[in-house]
Amino acid sequence: MTNISNAKNFKLGSRQVNRLGYGAMQLAGPGVFGPPKDRNAAIAVLREAVASGVNHIDTSDFYGPHVTNQLIREALHPYPDDLVIVTKIGAKRGDDASWNPALSPQALTDAVHDNLRNLGLDVLEVVNFRCMIGHQGLAEGSIEQQLTVLAELQRQGLVRHIGLSTVTRTQIEEGRRICEIVCVQNQYNLAHREDDAVVDWLASAGIAYVPYFPLGGFSPLQSTELSEVAVELGKTPMQVALAWLLDRAPNILLIPGTSSVEHLRENMAAAELQLPKAARAKLDKISA
Ligand SMILES: NC(=O)c1ccc[n+]([C@@H]2O[C@H](COP(=O)([O-])OP(=O)(O)OC[C@H]3O[C@@H](n4cnc5c(N)ncnc54)[C@H](OP(=O)(O)O)[C@@H]3O)[C@@H](O)[C@H]2O)c1
Repeated sequence: MTNISNAKNFKLGSRQVNRLGYGAMQLAGPGVFGPPKDRNAAIAVLREAVASGVNHIDTSDFYGPHVTNQLIREALHPYPDDLVIVTKIGAKRGDDASWNPALSPQALTDAVHDNLRNLGLDVLEVVNFRCMIGHQGLAEGSIEQQLTVLAELQRQGLVRHIGLSTVTRTQIEEGRRICEIVCVQNQYNLAHREDDAVVDWLASAGIAYVPYFPLGGFSPLQSTELSEVAVELGKTPMQVALAWLLDRAPNILLIPGTSSVEHLRENMAAAELQLPKAARAKLDKISA
């Protein structure tokens, strides 16, 4: 089994976590809606992740909705002491599987309670406020009202640490004036590097950066350069894409998603891949 500690660790809130973690979104049904095709397979992926050394799992109660958190609870509760489960609030699913903003104080409070109940926890270790101003992408606009509600839930002891998702530098700066921000989760990968400057800025501030869609998300990354480097190194393109992220900055924490134990093992093995300089230079030239 791969030793994922080769990829080192980084601070997430009050814990050090392995930089290779796991994103649980893909465990729900198609379109992240409804139950998985094979519940036992989903449980097996979660247990294999933890057995591999993963101590950072990303989730949300709006995956399913509720399904992913309930799977995590069934597979892993009572949780290992070192496991950090990071969740997110700010959206709600429609009956048609749509992703809708849910930003009122009541909706945010209900979301924290839904996560607590479905995960079987008394306190959530890290909650990301998922900014829905631009729905899927980045869009400027104040997050003060919502973050103030989340900070109040933190004061009540329901939330230990707060992070942000799908936010601009201006919104992160606004957030840091309201409460401590321990992580930022934005879309970023080999081919989507709009956040390059944000990654470096957060690294200098000692704040974790957690790229979502590290493998390209719903349409996994494809690029000639990536395939060529993978062949040269005798690795898979997905392993190279993850190794590039690990190499990119020390504050990057990975949460690749998969519903397959085989892919999970393949992804964990990226921890043992050191990119030669020439490979890194070739990958750096990839753009969307
Ligand atoms: N904050 C946000 O707004 C936000 C948005 C999206 C996601 N997220 C979080 O980020 C995590 C990661 O994103 P993601 O899961 O959507 O995308 P991802 O990790 O970039 O890619 C997942 C996709 O890649 C496939 N895959 C995984 N490993 C593979 C491998 N070794 N070989 C071939 N295909 C492979 C998966 O299919 P298989 O199941 O077949 O392996 C799945 O289709 C999510 O789980 C979620 O926790 C957050």
